[in-house]
Formats: sequence, structure tokens, C-alpha cells
Amino acid sequence: MGYQAHFKVWRGDDTGGDLQDFHVEVNEGEVVLDIIHRLQATQAGDMAVRWNCKAGKCGSCSAEVNGRPRLMCMTRMSTFTEDEIVTVTPLRTFPVIRDLVTDVEFNYVKAREIASFAPPEDLAPGEYRMSQVDVERPQEFRKCIECYLCQNTCHVVRDHEENKAEFAGPRYLMRVAELDMHPLDVRNRKEDAQEDHGLGYCNITKCCTEVCPEHIKITDNSLIPMKERVVDRKYDPLVWLGRKIFKREDLEQRGATGKRSLDDAGPDNGSPLRADSIGPVGS
Ligand code: SF4
Ligand code: F3S
Ligand code: FES
Repeated sequence: MGYQAHFKVWRGDDTGGDLQDFHVEVNEGEVVLDIIHRLQATQAGDMAVRWNCKAGKCGSCSAEVNGRPRLMCMTRMSTFTEDEIVTVTPLRTFPVIRDLVTDVEFNYVKAREIASFAPPEDLAPGEYRMSQVDVERPQEFRKCIECYLCQNTCHVVRDHEENKAEFAGPRYLMRVAELDMHPLDVRNRKEDAQEDHGLGYCNITKCCTEVCPEHIKITDNSLIPMKERVVDRKYDPLVWLGRKIFKREDLEQRGATGKRSLDDAGPDNGSPLRADSIGPVGS
């Protein structure tokens, strides 16, 4: 049996906007995206919304429903009581283009900043060999549909616009971790993660994991292991000895680029947010 629901949908553009009230029919089995489409068809023909698959696979229909980041096509209306007001707003972390559509360019920029897979130079295609366990381990990360709900939710970006330049966000730190786990990748991904992609900003609050519609254990299976590998390398006594011996050479190299090396960072590297060690959840 259908019923009338009370929706509040954010309408506006980059100059501002507000919540608009709608009373709209809801039928059994429908999801929030169905209702937004009904509003487009019956009451607000110019309402902007991004979607493609309506099956939780394209990652386009991300929005905040009653304040929680979700895919609209995977949010059943049966989640709400019939008298509950359902509020739909655009992703908060990214600039609004119009109505429920945001500009997610930030994520494309971060994706481009990650160096691509780097096999040994003398290894020809066709000679690549991996054990099954190394194939299976990153499979979980490959389920990502790039909905950017994790990127939208992580407080490092959501509440601190100033961090956007230095922090890749959970989705792309997960990509760096995936490459680091690859047995044929020869690039120093630990240094990349810490120095170029802001791994130290993550204080493992796990909000990213909580909102992932693919249920990828972003924090437990990629970010924390990556932090552990970074710390292992940083405090390895052999690495420390090597640093001492080759310090002069290292200094000369960095003098040319001005870039700090991972080995150069001390226990306190000067930023209160850049927790180099693993702390308790929520620390
Ligand atoms: Fe979306 Fe999960 Fe991929 Fe993040 S990791 S973009 S939440 S599918
Ligand atoms: Fe952000 Fe996820 Fe780390 S929410 S702080 S990237 S655990
Ligand atoms: Fe594709 Fe929702 S429309 S994930």
C-alpha cells in the first residue's frame, strides 16, 4: 500500500540554497532515488540529481539522507517510518553545482596524483608471476565503486578544508596501500603515502569504513596495515643505521629537490595531526 511521505530536498546552486518541502507518493519496495525521480516527474522537473545504474554499482547517486552519507538507489524507503520527514542534501564535503549534484573533481585530482603500477624494468609483460594469496589480498579494494562516500565523510577533509591539498583521503590511500601490497611493484609506496598523500593525517576514526556501501574494511585492511609498514620502516634499526651511514649522500640528494624523506621524519614531525604511530580508535 502506498502512502504520502514528507520530503525535504536541498535546492540551490553554488551561490546558496535551502531545503524545499515536498509531499510525495511512496510505494512498496521503493528507494529514495525513486522518490527523487517522482519529484522530477511530477513537482520539480528541473531538480538536478546524478545517477546511472540504480543498482548500487556506478557510485553516482551519493547524497546525505537524514544526514547520513548514502547511495540513494540503495536506501529503501522502508528504512523510515511513514510519518518520518526524509531530508536529502548534497554531499557536504564537495562544492555544490546544483541541487543534489556536487563537483567531485577533488577525487579525480587525487587519483591522478598516485603513481601508476611500477613493475621492475627488466620484467616483460607475460613474465609477471604472483602467488594466489597476493592476487586475493587486494580483491576487496577492487570492489570500490568510487562513490566517494568515504571521501565525503572523513573528518580530515570534511571539517578541515585546509587539509584538502595534502590529504588524498581514504579511497586513494587505500589505492596506495594496494600498490604497496603488490609483490611486483618496486616503487616506495610507504614514502609516497606518508610524504605525498598525507597518511599521517588519518587518525583511524573508521568513519570511512562505516559508510562504504561495498563494505570494504578500508581502515582495518588497508590504512592500519599501511601505517604499520610505514612505522616498521621508520623505526627499523637497520634502516636507522643505513640512514646514519648514508646521511651525507641523502642530504645532497634532498638538497636538489627540497623534498623531505620519510626517514628524515622524527617521532614528532611538527604537525599535531600527523600521527605517525598507531593510536587507539578515535584518538
Ligand atoms: Fe565508495 Fe567504499 Fe570506494 Fe569509498 S571505498 S569510494 S565508500 S566504494
Ligand atoms: Fe578518515 Fe578513515 Fe582515517 S575516516 S581519519 S581516513 S580511518
Ligand atoms: Fe548507480 Fe546509485 S545510481 S550507485
